[in-house]
Amino acid sequence: MTRIAIVEGDGIGHEVIPVAQNVLELLHPEYEYFPVEVGYHRWEMTGCPCADHDIAELKTADAILFGAITTPPMKDYQSVILRIRKVLDLYANLRPVKGNGFDIMIVRENTEGLYSGIEEISADRATTLRVVTREGTERVVRSAIRLAQQRSGRLTIGHKANVLKSDVLFRDICLAEAKSSGVSCNDKFIDALALDLLLHPASYDVVVTTNIFGDILSDTTSYLVGGLGLVPSANIGDRYALFEPVHGSAPDIAGQNIANPIAALRSAGMLLAYCGDAQGSDRIESAIQEVLSGGIRTRDLGGSAGTREFGDAVIRALIRKE
Ligand code: NAD
Ligand code: IPM
Ligand code: MN
Repeated sequence: MTRIAIVEGDGIGHEVIPVAQNVLELLHPEYEYFPVEVGYHRWEMTGCPCADHDIAELKTADAILFGAITTPPMKDYQSVILRIRKVLDLYANLRPVKGNGFDIMIVRENTEGLYSGIEEISADRATTLRVVTREGTERVVRSAIRLAQQRSGRLTIGHKANVLKSDVLFRDICLAEAKSSGVSCNDKFIDALALDLLLHPASYDVVVTTNIFGDILSDTTSYLVGGLGLVPSANIGDRYALFEPVHGSAPDIAGQNIANPIAALRSAGMLLAYCGDAQGSDRIESAIQEVLSGGIRTRDLGGSAGTREFGDAVIRALIRKE
């Protein structure tokens, strides 16, 4: 039986994830869904936002649907999502940004780079080690190449090799892998790429880059489709997979039933495709499109529908099409 772990997390995670879970339950009542409560609440109760046994539980799932977690006010804090990505070895973070006339897939390296966790902090100096390895680069670029082959066959490498020797290694490994795979490939400095993605989104297909550059590129390119409320992501490793919106817990709007649940719904769609139901994923996207075309929108898109009301409209659209 397919088992799905549900992590609402914090803030708007409590609002958008239930909407996505309702849709999953409608399409797959035969799956088992079980909650894992990590995050701020767990930290308040125990002083620890995510325990080893929570990680062990997550590992029993076939796939994880994840909301977002607020950074708890504690010294030496290790981000819960970063810990999960690392211990589950979710090395490829896929962040699709799809709109009118363009379809970009950002593939972010997800376990190393500036997120190595290797840091030295003293009163007057702090350093963070940026780690790029051959193994880490090869596996993420191979994922990006496989995706490019299933799509339009084009790959762009985003890097800062003019300054960072670690990115010379990243770029060169990516170029060599792309060459031997036969996909058409170009590379760009990350600063120029960030602007060009906004100016000429239709020129791009798969974009592979290092950890923090992918983090920033995915928030900025969300501008092309209406903002953070719309962009989903998949964190994929060889054994485990976690699906989450690109956005965070949005404390500024949490608890008001105004968050856009589309990013969470699309993340659920990516989860279904990973679990073998690509058609279910398409059904979720068509239902979202139908609801938007009917003029039902949340506040970030200029409408007045609440999170739950938007979710209910998606459920009705799915039932109508059954
Ligand atoms: P954020 O993504 O939570 O919010 C940025 C802005 O976008 C806010 O104005 C917010 O209201 C808006 N926004 C985000 N999602 C939206 C939605 N679905 N609908 C409508 N508007 C939306 O980023 P932030 O404010 O920089 O971070 C808030 C907290 O979330 C921090 O503690 C951060 O560390 C955490 N965070 C967690 C994750 C994660 O767990 N995966 C990801 C990003 C940020
Ligand atoms: C994201 C987030 C995380 C990241 C934070 C919350 C650690 O911004 O998933 O985009 O930097 O990867
Ligand atoms: Mn981010």
